[in-house]
Amino acid sequence: MDIAELNRIARAMVAKGKGILAADESSGTIKKRFDAIGVENVEQNRRDYREMLFRTPAMRDFISGVILYDETIRQKASDGTALVALIEKAGAVPGIKVDTGAKPLALSNGETVTEGLDGLRERFVAYHKLGARFAKWRATYDPTKVSYNCISANAHALARYAALAQENGIVPIVEPEVLMDYDNDIDTCAAVTEWVLKETFQQLYYANVVLEGAILKPNMIVPGKKCAKQAGLDEVAEKTVRVLKRCVPGAVPGIAFLSGGQSDEEATAHLNAMNAGHDLPWALTFSYGRALQAAPQKAWSGKPENVPKAQAAFAHRARMNSLAAQGQWKPQLEKQAA
Ligand code: 13P
Repeated sequence: MDIAELNRIARAMVAKGKGILAADESSGTIKKRFDAIGVENVEQNRRDYREMLFRTPAMRDFISGVILYDETIRQKASDGTALVALIEKAGAVPGIKVDTGAKPLALSNGETVTEGLDGLRERFVAYHKLGARFAKWRATYDPTKVSYNCISANAHALARYAALAQENGIVPIVEPEVLMDYDNDIDTCAAVTEWVLKETFQQLYYANVVLEGAILKPNMIVPGKKCAKQAGLDEVAEKTVRVLKRCVPGAVPGIAFLSGGQSDEEATAHLNAMNAGHDLPWALTFSYGRALQAAPQKAWSGKPENVPKAQAAFAHRARMNSLAAQGQWKPQLEKQAA
């Protein structure tokens, strides 16, 4: 294992003022996004949409890496260029989602365990040849019913995935996500996230994963969407930083948050508040899916004539999050066009 090379890639993924575009929606998930904008979920539309994002000039300034889905890492742009080559040309690192989704955990109370380990070594070899230099595996937890059985099963799978990734020269993004879809309060999210992260790092240690060559992608500490008591910016920032400092060793080069269902502006404001007000041992940036793509998807709506408008919307969100990753974002900047 080339630790220096893994560390170089990981540091590039969290370079100052840059973050990751999570464009790894499975064909089922992108259908939900396309349904919302009246676009048919066929391969060419998926290709056209992602090509539009990857050709946005602002990629070069604000995006360090792009997480792809299996279909996308093999696709070619309209002029025959591999989409992976477009990402590399924009100075970003191509990455690949390798888990096969959260499945019901046997004999549990409706909890899930993420699958995808069978044959993963061979898939990593193939993905590396296709250009992937980092990967992602996401485990999800319902904070209203989480058990140690669920936390340890997912942490063990994350660790086995991360070790296989590093064995094959690929930086693992370790993504344990405490979901924000329920009615739990913010302190329950904090307690469950702390438990999940403690167990995850313990399993990474047992699996010999080198922390200098890995990136953590966690949820922020927020109340569930259905909780009557929502939290202010400062409370989210304080509680998130506190939990992360308790659990994430300084050897990890960076933490790149998921957006998880927060609005575009909330995801930006929270990231900004963490970076503006704290002394942190790791880079703290974004790896957003919805919070980077909702605006361009709406602007595009599947029409070629909307491409410039959609690229401007993507560039704007990327720039806002870049500023937030440096603690330099201000609400007034949202009103300025990209
Ligand atoms: P969201 O930012 O939409 O939560 O997506 C990030 C991601 O990659 C989830 O696995």
